[in-house]
Order: sequence, then structure tokens, then C-alpha cells
Amino acid sequence: MKVLTIVGARPQFVKAAAVSPVLRRRHTEILVHTGQHYDYTLSAVFFEGLGIPRPDINLNVGSASHAVQTADMLPRIEQAIIEAQPDCVLVYGDTNSTLAGALAAAKLGIPLVHVEAGLRSFNMAMPEEVNRILTDRVSRLLLCPTQTAVDNLHAEGIRDGVCLVGDVMFDIAARSAEAAGSGNDILRRLTLTPGEYVLATIHRAENTDDPACLSEIVYALAECNQRVVLPLHPRTTKCLETFNLLETLRAASNVVVTEPLAYLDFVCLLRNARLVLTDSGGVQKEACFHRIPCVTLREETEWVETLESGWNLLTGANKQRILLAMRIQPTRGRRDCAGMELWDGRAAERVMEQIESM
Ligand code: UD1
Repeated sequence: MKVLTIVGARPQFVKAAAVSPVLRRRHTEILVHTGQHYDYTLSAVFFEGLGIPRPDINLNVGSASHAVQTADMLPRIEQAIIEAQPDCVLVYGDTNSTLAGALAAAKLGIPLVHVEAGLRSFNMAMPEEVNRILTDRVSRLLLCPTQTAVDNLHAEGIRDGVCLVGDVMFDIAARSAEAAGSGNDILRRLTLTPGEYVLATIHRAENTDDPACLSEIVYALAECNQRVVLPLHPRTTKCLETFNLLETLRAASNVVVTEPLAYLDFVCLLRNARLVLTDSGGVQKEACFHRIPCVTLREETEWVETLESGWNLLTGANKQRILLAMRIQPTRGRRDCAGMELWDGRAAERVMEQIESM
């Protein structure tokens, strides 16, 4: 088979690191990078660190409004598909690159494979929710990471092509656990003691673009009386500057602000953290996978299994709720997360098998 895969943003590079090598053992893959993420720390560092094959085509779209960015990708992806004549197009997750790839493939009548199908936050104000609902609607094969995702699709009347394969991010998490620990000097570089710091990430539009929300989070970090490491996404840095909050953060002696980190450095920090504080979907489940308690700075999550098992707690962007959760979450009772039987490092193999049977 010839599979044309579309990636564009940081979490998609991690997923491609799991799936591309497996696909390439038996098939031809053409990797298209839309250029949605272009900074070295959000893009190239992942290709280098995770051994992802170099993109065959780079569309260099860069940043813009949602409409402009998505529209810019469409004719370029269409051209790439027409030239490559693939048997199917594969997209990951819920970014603007996912939606553009889905639309281009569907309109050309090329079967679309969606990896990470069926996730729902039930919050249509999130651009990601719009992207994944529309992508699922035009997908031929909907490969779900959890039973909840399968149930969500069934509830929307989508049954054909729906299949539970597990989470390809866990393939990489499992493989990286050891590599992230041995010889990694990130803790020394940041003068951190294992188990004595909080790892925080913030980048979701609902938190970064609203000055009131961003300010609640910044003051929670500054006033929590715990050491906090905060690798800053470029979107967040820009918003902190715009709302005059960057100085507040830099002035807080307990907060260590860093550039976005390479994957293995991040995993090393995560595995040694006392607690993770995040609004990222991927980081929530990685915390659960590595058995680190997590507090999620959102009002809802697509990964409900992490809540039910006690590994995750939602606070929204509210300073008092965040401070309370930071105190109680590290010591709450927890049990194994539902769906763990699929954390076997073989999700990418199941993705390939499903594409082959389609
Ligand atoms: C995107 C995804 C989100 C995913 C996240 C991972 C959408 C709608 N959102 O959000 O689902 O969880 O990636 O990081 O697709 N920027 C840079 N350098 C870069 C990339 C972005 O400076 O390399 C800045 C730009 O100012 C841009 C802003 O970040 O305007 C937001 O970029 P965007 O492409 O919307 O992606 P994310 O916010 O990262």
C-alpha cells in the first residue's frame, strides 16, 4: 500500500514516531508536514529525538488565524495527494492540520484513516472539538484509543469503520521510559530534586487567550509555595507578554521557566515530578501512564478514564481550585486506569492491521 500521512503539530510528531516505523516495515509512506508548528523546539527537535523519518513534503504554512491556516493547507495537501496517488490518507488527532487533511482527502474520494478518533470534550468552543467531529464524520476508518471514544462514535450513529486499537502515544511512552532516565541530565541542568517539583504546561487557547484565565493560572503557580517547572509554549509566551504577566512569572522565585523541551527531557521531568499541572490532552494521559498524579486546568477532559481512576483532577482556570487540587491530588487514592490492557506497546501494529484489512 501507499499511505500518505499528514502531520503538523507537536503531538502528531509523537504519534507518527509510533506509527511510521511500523507502517514502513511493509508499506510505502509519504510523510507530509504542513508546517503548522515550525519552531525548532516544537518541530525539528522531535524529528531528531524520536527518529521520525524526514518529511517527504513540507508545506510551510506557518501561523495564521484558524481560517487562513486551514485554508492555506487545503490546496497544498490536495496537490500532494494528487501527485502521490495514495491508497489512503492518514491523519492524527484534532489540529487544524488534521481537519485540512481530512477535507482534502474526502473531497478527492481517497479513504481517510483517523487515528485518535471518537474523542469528545462536548465543548464546541474548543477548536480541537470542531476539528475532530468534522474529521470523524468523513473518515472511512476510525481508530479509537479508548472504549469511551468508541461509545462516543456509536452515540453519534457512526458504526462503520470504528475500531478500538489503543493509544499509539503509549507505544512511545513505554519505549521512552528507560531512555528518558538513563544519562539524562535535565534535572541537574534545572537544579531539580526528584519528587520535589511540579511540572506545568499551558497552551490551550481557552486558557492562554483569556487574560482572566491566564492570570488565575499564573498567580496559582506563583503562590503555590512549591517549586514549579514551566516549559513555555510560544503561544503562551506571546499571550503572557501581551497581558503583562510574563514579568510576574519571572519574578516568582519558585517558578523555573524554560523553552519547550525535547520529548525525552520532558518525559524525564514528568517521571520525576511530584505532580503534573497541565491543559494538554497528551500530557494528562502520559502522567497517568507514568503514574504521576495530574491536575488539569480545564473544565472537562476527553480522557475521562484518568478522572475515574483518580490520577487526574479538573480545576478549570481558577486560582483557589488549582491551589486546593495541588495540595490534595498527590495523596488521593488511585486505582488502575480503564483500558490499561491496551497499553501493551502494540497500538501502532493494530493501526497497520486495520488499514490492511480496510
Ligand atoms: C495546536 C493544536 C492543538 C495541539 C497543540 C500542541 C489546533 C487548533 N491546535 O495548538 O490541538 O494540542 O497544537 O502544541 O490545531 N507558534 C509559534 N511557533 C510554532 C508554532 C506556533 O510561535 O512553531 C505560535 C504562533 O504564534 C501561533 C500560536 O503559537 O499563532 C498557536 O499556534 P497553533 O498553530 O494554533 O497551534 P497551538 O496553539 O500549538
